[in-house]
Amino acid sequence: MRVVGGSSSHRLAFAVARELGVPVTPVSFEKIQGGFPDGERYVRLTDDVRDRRVVLLQSTHPDGMVVELLILQDALREGGAREVITFVPYFAYGRQDRVFEPGEALSARALARAVSAGSDRVLTLGLHNRETLKHFTCPVEDVSGMPAIARHFQGRVDVVVAPDDGAVRHAEEVASALGVPWDFLEKTRLDALTVKLTPKSLPVAGKRVGLVDEVISTGGTIAAAVKELRAQGAASVIAACLHGLFAGSALEKLQACDEVACADTLEGPMTKFSVAPEIAAALRRL
Ligand code: R5P
Repeated sequence: MRVVGGSSSHRLAFAVARELGVPVTPVSFEKIQGGFPDGERYVRLTDDVRDRRVVLLQSTHPDGMVVELLILQDALREGGAREVITFVPYFAYGRQDRVFEPGEALSARALARAVSAGSDRVLTLGLHNRETLKHFTCPVEDVSGMPAIARHFQGRVDVVVAPDDGAVRHAEEVASALGVPWDFLEKTRLDALTVKLTPKSLPVAGKRVGLVDEVISTGGTIAAAVKELRAQGAASVIAACLHGLFAGSALEKLQACDEVACADTLEGPMTKFSVAPEIAAALRRL
């Protein structure tokens, strides 16, 4: 087995390869110094992949990373790889998982089909809605990243809380790994930037709370949850997610948290733990 990392998952690819004890096939991303002047992506494998089983790791955010994923798949096929396993640590567009308004795209389906086309198998991690798996046209599996959040919380939280009912399965999984109770808040999204939380009577007074979601985008969901938890007397709140997008002023909104942490499915200043062990374990099972 060989691991190839696209530029959105470069460090993660090395971490996964280390876990698996296999080499990373290096990729050159620049045809000429500074890349193409028109901004188009370029990839060239600088090692032989003929007859190899190759794992290609690439998150599909930002948009250019989708193109890079597709051309990396093409390079692997061109290079004679025996099997191309595409692992998408953060599957962007997963939240447009249905047509909300007439005329809209089902973007998650469009992306699922595109990613499948060059793959023998696809794996995702912390997919927003597992119903999306039905749109892939090759064998596919979604891997949980919640054990990584549980490791980050170990010994530091007394209760795990989901900011909405969509994240309940995540809170349950993290809480059960830690052997602590869990609960959730009820969320109504008023518009793309504003959410309202219906208070629940949570037993959080004096407790250290671990707040869990699969993605933080504008930060609105977590900010509203922290406000509510503080109002109910939480002693501390650590907010953790797998995919830290932190769009716009998200980090400012999250200042009421004692800590904000995300995994390395996307790399940024809040990346504080790795899902490499979960990815490697899923690949070992294949
Ligand atoms: C929603 O269903 C997701 O699980 C997240 O709660 C949501 O997408 C987070 O978005 P934001 O950070 O913009 O509130």
